[in-house]
Amino acid sequence: MKVYVWLSTVVSMATALDNGLARTPPMGWLSWERFRCNIDCDADPNNCISEQLFKQMADIMVEEGYQDAGYNYVSIDACWPAPQRDANGSLVPDPKRFPSGMNALIHSKGLKFGMYEDFGHTTCLGFPGSEFYMQQDAQTFASWEIDLLKFDGCYSNPRDADYGYPVMEFFLNKTGRPILFSCEWSVYQRKQGMAINYTAVANGCNTWRNYNDIQDSWDSVLEILDYWGNNTGDFLSKAGPGSFSDPDMAGREGIFQVWRKELAQDGSYAIAIINSSDHGMPNLFNSTLGELGLSNSNGYNVTEVFDGTPMGQFKPQSPFNFRVNPSGILLVTCAPL
Ligand SMILES: *[C@@H]1O[C@H](CO)[C@@H](O)[C@H](O)[C@H]1NC(C)=O
Ligand SMILES: *[C@@H]1O[C@H](CO)[C@@H](O)[C@H](O)[C@H]1NC(C)=O
Ligand SMILES: *[C@@H]1O[C@H](CO)[C@@H](O)[C@H](O)[C@H]1NC(C)=O
Ligand SMILES: *[C@@H]1O[C@H](CO)[C@@H](O)[C@H](O)[C@H]1NC(C)=O
Ligand SMILES: *[C@@H]1O[C@H](CO)[C@@H](O)[C@H](O)[C@H]1NC(C)=O
Ligand SMILES: *[C@@H]1O[C@H](CO)[C@@H](O)[C@H](O)[C@H]1NC(C)=O
Ligand SMILES: *[C@@H]1O[C@H](CO)[C@@H](O)[C@H](O)[C@H]1NC(C)=O
Repeated sequence: MKVYVWLSTVVSMATALDNGLARTPPMGWLSWERFRCNIDCDADPNNCISEQLFKQMADIMVEEGYQDAGYNYVSIDACWPAPQRDANGSLVPDPKRFPSGMNALIHSKGLKFGMYEDFGHTTCLGFPGSEFYMQQDAQTFASWEIDLLKFDGCYSNPRDADYGYPVMEFFLNKTGRPILFSCEWSVYQRKQGMAINYTAVANGCNTWRNYNDIQDSWDSVLEILDYWGNNTGDFLSKAGPGSFSDPDMAGREGIFQVWRKELAQDGSYAIAIINSSDHGMPNLFNSTLGELGLSNSNGYNVTEVFDGTPMGQFKPQSPFNFRVNPSGILLVTCAPL
């Protein structure tokens, strides 16, 4: 089974939501890209949004090593609720698809539990939204012991978001349970052509989306990378521990996209070099660390991230040449010497 994971990325720190969460970019699995709003458990019991699906995904996250690699959130996306709130106005999970309720669905594996709601009066797919119910919904989510809330923006006025999302964060905070707040308000403001106040976004959210949903295609990944590459000045400077921009995923050299992130006060960097060509032979990335903005005159000790291979020591001006497969990525850390 294919498991899709998300990874949030960044550049430097300005302001951040101070709830102790997202000190590093959160990573995990979210149901939307693969399972969408499939609620027909009679016809498609193995792929519908149900407790069985999330138990299965939680098992895979543990058994296939994703959890060990740091992908520790399992998030329920759209279409989990019953079509109506209960008599007290509380959200309830669909009783047929989630007969055991939400508590203990994900936590038994030591994973963190993500949940989805919407700032508007209904969610994008017509389930009850949080408009007029934010305090009650925050309390409901805390009682289910969620660890993350993705707060979508369908059927809301994007002009209300700058104060409305922080109200939800306020109520989440008041529950006393640390809940990572993942916002979508910048996506909806972008669609309206509004100027986005990323200072407010970073103050109010642990992660935020900027662009369209990711789809199951390399074209979609590239389009998102392009959007980020085109707009680095807007939001990357606002990201940092506590608040990360979420590309759902920083510069460009020819067919290569180059992403750089300062990792620590000691001057370490992570560099990602992505080959955005999707066919043919591996291409030569021919540059220097100096050209990538790493200027420590003693140079850097470079290590490949995925398997820990030492790549050697490089001065800012020494050739930094690697072949990167089509659609491939080279991810290294550079520690100053
Ligand atoms: C509504 O709230 C009352 C009082 O707390 C409680 O007794 C009742 O069970 C609740 N109803 C539902 C449907 O949860
Ligand atoms: C609530 O906010 C305060 C101040 O920003 C912060 O110190 C605290 O950790 C937050 N608590 C929770 C549960 O998020
Ligand atoms: C952006 O948000 C910040 C923090 O909430 C606020 O102080 C500032 O006035 C806002 N800027 C604009 C242009 O609205
Ligand atoms: C990025 O900028 C290029 C060049 O201006 C443009 O062709 C492309 O459509 C932009 N892509 C996105 C996703 O914004
Ligand atoms: C990127 O991939 C393309 C085709 O897969 C290849 O032609 C190109 O040489 C690669 N670029 C680098 C720099 O590795
Ligand atoms: C890399 O670029 C430098 C300067 O542009 C050039 O002198 C060198 O030959 C290139 N190396 C390779 C392997 O293409
Ligand atoms: C450089 O990093 C490698 C791991 O990639 C490590 O084994 C080595 O000790 C480091 N060397 C220095 C001088 O820090």
